[in-house]
Amino acid sequence: MKLMSRIRLIFSALILFLLFNLIACAQSGENISAADEKVQQFLENNRRSWQDMNVPYQDGQVLYDLIIKNNYTSALEIGTSTGHSTIWIAWAMSKTGGKVTTIEVNKSRHREALENIREADLEKYVDARLADAHKLVKELNGPFDFVFSDADKDWYIQYFKDVSPKLETGGCFTAHNVLNGYGGTQEYLDYVGSLDNYETTIDRSSSSGISISFKKSE
Ligand SMILES: C[S@@+](CC[C@H](N)C(=O)[O-])C[C@H]1O[C@@H](n2cnc3c(N)ncnc32)[C@H](O)[C@@H]1O
Repeated sequence: MKLMSRIRLIFSALILFLLFNLIACAQSGENISAADEKVQQFLENNRRSWQDMNVPYQDGQVLYDLIIKNNYTSALEIGTSTGHSTIWIAWAMSKTGGKVTTIEVNKSRHREALENIREADLEKYVDARLADAHKLVKELNGPFDFVFSDADKDWYIQYFKDVSPKLETGGCFTAHNVLNGYGGTQEYLDYVGSLDNYETTIDRSSSSGISISFKKSE
């Protein structure tokens, strides 16, 4: 083969290779944004219709941002209800490559959560359990790097004690509604505030407050 034809052949192969990669990149970009769009649309459409003690939109955003910022991949949620916070956490997990285990004791709320999670197309990031968290939290192996506690407030301290040994250093334990003072939330704040190996702050994006306790050491 003449030198010029050989150069032309190599050049064409190179162009084809570059084109192929460009198309592949564009396609994967489309998929990511289509999935994001689906979740965003779901959250926006339902923004004002959650009725089962669900977190407000801005609190969901706080959880999402925390997970993304720290690249958490193994989440536990206590208190699924119909799945609003679960969807925010699962959406973050879809970015970090992780998964959330979520627990709900009420059968119809658990079922509704499953439907919502499916509608947002996030099932593969969620392990939803219908169970009493008092029992199941003790039994789960972990390890976890992110916890969202949003079930019975008078059990907050016990949930924390049960999960803490399974929480990785660098991980964080968050708890909802800590500013309303109901059902032992002040005792909970006093308790986590007294621990030397945790640093606790409160996010006040919504009036109910989310405590965020970072684990500094074992
Ligand atoms: C405040 S709601 C959770 C809202 C949810 N995180 C959201 O934002 O969509 C609390 C839920 O915890 C559930 N719950 C209460 N005690 C529980 C227990 N011992 N085990 C599991 N779930 C429990 C309730 O049935 C209720 O659905």
